[in-house]
Amino acid sequence: MTTSAAPAPAERLFVALDTPDADAAAGLAKSLKGVAGGVKLGNEFFTAHGPAGVARVAAEGLPVFLDLKFHDIPNTVAGAVKAALALKPFMLNVHASGGAAMMRSAAKATAELGNPRPLVIAVTVLTSLDDDDLRAVGVRPPMVDQAVRLAKLAQASDLDGVVCSAKEAMAIRGACGRAFRLVVPGIRPIWAAAEDQKRIVTPREAIALGADYLVVGRPITEARDPVAAARRIIAEIASPESPEP
Ligand code: C5P
Repeated sequence: MTTSAAPAPAERLFVALDTPDADAAAGLAKSLKGVAGGVKLGNEFFTAHGPAGVARVAAEGLPVFLDLKFHDIPNTVAGAVKAALALKPFMLNVHASGGAAMMRSAAKATAELGNPRPLVIAVTVLTSLDDDDLRAVGVRPPMVDQAVRLAKLAQASDLDGVVCSAKEAMAIRGACGRAFRLVVPGIRPIWAAAEDQKRIVTPREAIALGADYLVVGRPITEARDPVAAARRIIAEIASPESPEP
């Protein structure tokens, strides 16, 4: 498990490039180089453009969070992780609900690479689910208990951290300790529109609640000046006590 010190403010911002347009994604990655900590590429981009598309964005020089949320039998996940490692991501992820053996196989496949190796993190409970959705799949609420249970399982399975909502970050931090990485999406600066995100927090709040990395998409990618928007968010991460920039 990785136990290095907290990353610098700019390194904590990952920009979600949720676009099917590879030119746009590569262009944004280029303009954010030296500004943001990295970019996040997910299933939408990967299904459209595959490893070649990821390699093209990565060639712009920013670390890549490969958000493919693997969830399958341990042997298949190990194979998928090994294939993903060829893309040299900074971070990749699996679903914690795939179980301990599956997570261990992902950790083992990554560890075999030696150092440096990507961080391997787990999705706890998707933030699109509510308590009724949990009940419907046989899980007893409250949500936070399930998120903490899965985070502890991920930690015991040698993963580096989890993706979680800011709402559950403090409880997970308390259960899993300082070195466990918390990656938090659903971020909206006060100057940005909420769009479809419901359980949102500002960058400042996410940091205060214990996030290590913030995943921010549209407030940056749809801003008139994405670089300026990213810089504004990093300023907020750097000095969470100062007035809103
Ligand atoms: O544009 P926006 O800032 O809402 O983008 C957030 C990103 O984080 C998207 O890529 C979304 O898929 C992802 N995400 C999320 N909530 C989760 C997990 C991932 O919003 N629970």
